[in-house]
Amino acid sequence: MEYTLKQIGVIHSPFRDKAQTPIQPNRSQARGQVEVFPEYAPGLQDLEGFSHIYLLYAFHLSEGCALRVQPFLDDEEHGLFATRHPCRPNPIGLSVVRLLARRDNVLDIEGVDVLDGTPLLDIKPYVPDFDVRTDVKTGWYAQRSKE
Ligand SMILES: C[S@@+](CC[C@H](N)C(=O)[O-])C[C@H]1O[C@@H](n2cnc3c(N)ncnc32)[C@H](O)[C@@H]1O
Repeated sequence: MEYTLKQIGVIHSPFRDKAQTPIQPNRSQARGQVEVFPEYAPGLQDLEGFSHIYLLYAFHLSEGCALRVQPFLDDEEHGLFATRHPCRPNPIGLSVVRLLARRDNVLDIEGVDVLDGTPLLDIKPYVPDFDVRTDVKTGWYAQRSKE
């Protein structure tokens, strides 16, 4: 089956070059703006009460798709779905960023790890009660996170 997604906005960031773009929000202090297209702006009501939000977006400049990849944080290959690599069958990215402020249809955010002009697909509030797990295993990354 195929699905069609609607672009609901654009993520503006300081980054024009993939190689210079942080690899995850927890490694980024960069600020940016999420511009939500005006027709979707009513959906932003009450979002300002949340300190962090999920951004889902299209890796619009990813090239190709391999099912085994070398992630940014390792020098060995792993199955694509065991990584956050941007080259995917469905090139969808996911970032938890800090929401600094909402100005009508524009969100000021911190912790940006995407290229300027990245198409926005969805926004969801980050809710620790829903999303935080404490009894976790982190696979190949466990060793890398200690380095
Ligand atoms: C490793 S991915 C992680 C992104 C997200 N936090 C995730 O886990 O889905 C981040 C990298 O993707 C690349 N990237 C960022 N925005 C992109 C875009 N719009 N198109 C293609 N590649 C992008 C950059 O090289 C950046 O360092």
